[in-house]
Amino acid sequence: MHVSIRPLDPSSDLDLEQYLALETALDEHTYGASQALTREQLRAQMVDSSYWRGQRWIALAETLEGGESLVGRASVFVPLRENLESISVGVEVHPAFRGRGIATQLAEEALIPAIRDSGRTLVEAYGEIPADGDADSPDEPVNRLARRLGISRKNLAVCRVLPLPLESSLLDSLQAEAEERIGQYRIELWDGDIPEQHLEAYGRLMRQLELDEPDEEVEHEAPEYTPERIREGERRRREQGLESITAVAVAPDGSFAGNTEIHVHRSPHSTLGWQENTLVMPEHRGHRLGLALKVATHRQLTARAPQLRALVTWNSHVNPWMIEINEKLGYRVRFRELVLQGRPEL
Ligand SMILES: CC(C)(COP(=O)(O)OP(=O)(O)OC[C@H]1O[C@@H](n2cnc3c(N)ncnc32)[C@H](O)[C@@H]1OP(=O)(O)O)[C@@H](O)C(=O)NCCC(=O)NCCS
Repeated sequence: MHVSIRPLDPSSDLDLEQYLALETALDEHTYGASQALTREQLRAQMVDSSYWRGQRWIALAETLEGGESLVGRASVFVPLRENLESISVGVEVHPAFRGRGIATQLAEEALIPAIRDSGRTLVEAYGEIPADGDADSPDEPVNRLARRLGISRKNLAVCRVLPLPLESSLLDSLQAEAEERIGQYRIELWDGDIPEQHLEAYGRLMRQLELDEPDEEVEHEAPEYTPERIREGERRRREQGLESITAVAVAPDGSFAGNTEIHVHRSPHSTLGWQENTLVMPEHRGHRLGLALKVATHRQLTARAPQLRALVTWNSHVNPWMIEINEKLGYRVRFRELVLQGRPEL
């Protein structure tokens, strides 16, 4: 089977259709659910932001004489405001085409030249291994690929998936558990964009999350989430057809004590949603705010995203507090994810 690698052409409808079909196959394989983005929404996702630039390649296999299928993809992201030494790389191959050297070819023909051209020295990637796989086994395909790229494991994350819909009785009992310790704190729900008057305070929560999230030996500089940066993120999500369900915990003095966000794609054919950042500020921990925040957002799902069948989230394996909350809600381990970094001589 002949495989050729070339840059993705975002102006080509055929490239985008095949890219979306690959994404659906990967998501169904990995999470048991997927998102139904339109071509225009995918195009919007691919436009560079003010904070990073990206490049994408595709692997085309000649599966039958004269007929090509898009069976793999690779990408790089270069942060532009912070992490100025870093370049983030990714490669994924359709499950039916794995073990035939396609990822290796994408790494050699696309990623390694792009890393060299970028002048960036710290290379970062994420790789999936089975839930019971040995993270340090040199036989894991991800580790073999990582060795080729000159990077190695710096943290281990666990991906969990929550089957939907949720029983409201479960949410009622978890809410009662949270209320025992919540005291004078209250939870506020926002649908849509962050209210203008809260942008700066919300940006501080976002930055704190990146400072506090346990990530073992990963080198990462937390960005400043300025109001402009938050608004650009919201605009980009809207252009991709995503909606946010956000909750904040408000302390007795009116300051923000924590937050959580769920992002859902609004097509009735999208079955996959994303549980994003959850944080309780250090001085406000111990009041079950993490649980109360998540119960509040998860309750919204039945009305606002009834199409969803699965919500996916990642936690570092050294984050027992967040994991306990997720397990209570019914999230179950799907696979483990290696965070790989290194300064290779390529
Ligand atoms: C990891 C992934 C990209 C590999 O794609 P692939 O096309 O199967 O990879 P290759 O065929 O080029 O194989 C890479 C290495 O793994 C080995 N390998 C692949 N599949 C294997 C299998 N089933 N059993 C044993 N070894 C295997 C290959 O022999 C090769 O080893 P080598 O470097 O010593 O020659 C693919 O499994 C995938 O898409 N996973 C999900 C996303 C992910 O984790 N990406 C990794 C980013 S670093």
